[in-house]
Amino acid sequence: MTQAKHNVVIFLGPPGAGKGTQAERLAQDKALIKISTGDILRDHVSRGTELGQQVKPIMDAGQLVTDEILIALIRDKLADMDPVRVIFDGFPRTTAQAQALDVLLEELGAPVCAVPLLDVPDEVLVRRIVERGRQAAARGEAVRSDDTEEVARRRQQIYREETQPLIDYYSARGHLYRVDGVGTMDEVYDRILAGMN
Ligand code: AP5
Repeated sequence: MTQAKHNVVIFLGPPGAGKGTQAERLAQDKALIKISTGDILRDHVSRGTELGQQVKPIMDAGQLVTDEILIALIRDKLADMDPVRVIFDGFPRTTAQAQALDVLLEELGAPVCAVPLLDVPDEVLVRRIVERGRQAAARGEAVRSDDTEEVARRRQQIYREETQPLIDYYSARGHLYRVDGVGTMDEVYDRILAGMN
């Protein structure tokens, strides 16, 4: 395990691009903490917490949960971290979230270091998501309620409207680099590492 020189990494990319898969591996290799907002919210849903009940219909529909909820969740997570060594998977997703994150990180003296953007064509994304749902069902595992073709396409649309502006946001700050997200998971991972050097 090696220490990362990049202490705050943000994975950007559309639903199904491989953010979670690659963030998990990078977190293990570089001793960083992965914060996946989708996983945190799904955990609340599965435990039936008040927050989980509130966000379930929103997630089922493939819509975004409110910025207020997400920013509060991230503030709590970062408050527990000293030093801040983190990979974000699925956050930020709106310009308001990105601005709030910058403020939180500035307070902690831990600026964003690298923002890999995983590029994957739309049809490949939908295939991956539908296949994940099919495989989970075949294994008798819980199927994500948003892993249907219809909801996957809505999530893509919302990504284009709400999250794509972050590409300009992080490009303007010099943090963003594009990674071809098609290929084996090892190939994609090597491209992510190459872009960080
Ligand atoms: P979230 O859980 O973040 O889902 P997502 O961004 O839509 O992304 P996915 O998890 O589907 O894809 P991924 O890019 O992580 O790819 P993965 O590695 O899983 O969010 C879910 C919902 O929560 C949102 O819709 C929203 O309601 C809410 N939410 C979360 N964060 C929020 C926020 N900040 N603001 C507001 N609302 C928020 O891979 C996908 C599949 O492809 C897997 O089966 C994987 O095995 C496979 N795969 C990965 N890489 C490859 C490869 N190279 N080749 C072939 N298959 C591959």
